Amino acid sequence: MRTLRKSKRDEAIDIRAVIITGSGSGIGAATASWLNERGCLVFAGVRKSDQGEALKATAKHPDNLIPLLLDVTDGDAIAVAREQVKQVLANRGTQLSGLVNNAADENLGPVEVLPLEVFRNEMEVGYFGMVAVTKAFLPLLREGNGRIVNMSSVNGRCTFKYHATTCATKYAVEAFSDALRMELKPWGMHVAIVEPGPTDTPLMVEKTVEEFTQKMSRYPEDELAMYFPDYAATVQNVTAFVERLRTPPRNRWSKLRRLLNGQGWLHRPDEVARVIEHALTSRKPKTRYLVGIQAKLIYLARCLLGDARFDRFLGEKVFDF
Ligand SMILES: NC(=O)c1ccc[n+]([C@@H]2O[C@H](COP(=O)([O-])OP(=O)(O)OC[C@H]3O[C@@H](n4cnc5c(N)ncnc54)[C@H](OP(=O)(O)O)[C@@H]3O)[C@@H](O)[C@H]2O)c1
Repeated sequence: MRTLRKSKRDEAIDIRAVIITGSGSGIGAATASWLNERGCLVFAGVRKSDQGEALKATAKHPDNLIPLLLDVTDGDAIAVAREQVKQVLANRGTQLSGLVNNAADENLGPVEVLPLEVFRNEMEVGYFGMVAVTKAFLPLLREGNGRIVNMSSVNGRCTFKYHATTCATKYAVEAFSDALRMELKPWGMHVAIVEPGPTDTPLMVEKTVEEFTQKMSRYPEDELAMYFPDYAATVQNVTAFVERLRTPPRNRWSKLRRLLNGQGWLHRPDEVARVIEHALTSRKPKTRYLVGIQAKLIYLARCLLGDARFDRFLGEKVFDF
């Protein structure tokens, strides 16, 4: 089997086989395709079999793309997936080089309005799911001297209004990953955290609109009215905000203007896939990867401004619908 090798400049290590959770769309799908294209055996965790078939159908090396039905909140499904992976690795005489914990859900809205179960469910996928999958695959990863890449977000370092569930989940991911990195050091197993800024995926685009247009409209009207007195206008603002994000900046100046106006734009999922590849293959992997200039500047502002000023200039502003 061909193994993945990067340019000499980075002196990259070879990776043989990688599992990616949440590969049905967005960053997970882009990473599955990218690593497969580079010759890596990819176990693509999906929740629906048609997503797996679609990935395989478009893969450059279809024999090296193996869909796994993997709901990360389902302990039995994780156990079945682990046996499947073990079997394939044994049959092909290879070992597991990486786990990319990418699956997540996202819910937006004021704390007072969102039902408690929404908080629980998001943690269940984005945090407990990550813990469960990591624990299940650690022995196989150890055999292959493998690495772990955990998907966080700039929301794992900075908090924004209406993002309590997502930021809390990603902050948990950050703490979990830091502890795991220290614990796995004796085996030379690296743990990296990837923190993208806004990226063009269903989670960022369709879900953001859906949260405000469909889901939120089902919550108690009086509670909603306290935060969004003109709910119809809010829905329009959210839709316009996402449309603006989706319009690519024409040049550097337009990027700068948009950054200064607090508007931003969306990165392509394959930009994040390349960063994940670095975390898996570099001889000098970072512990954290803030992806994109927006995420880096937001975090810089977070460090420089302190709580009150960050809240006022960014935290409360960016999602002020
Ligand atoms: N897009 C951004 O702007 C952005 C920014 C920072 C960080 N991130 C992070 O990047 C990662 C990927 O998100 P994305 O933006 O690519 O969004 P996405 O396209 O919605 O991908 C999320 C994936 O997670 C899967 N998933 C949801 N619940 C699951 C469960 N219980 N078990 C297994 N898989 C499950 C989804 O599967 P279904 O297709 O079946 O729903 C989907 O394939 C997430 O960790 C997200 O927090 C995204």
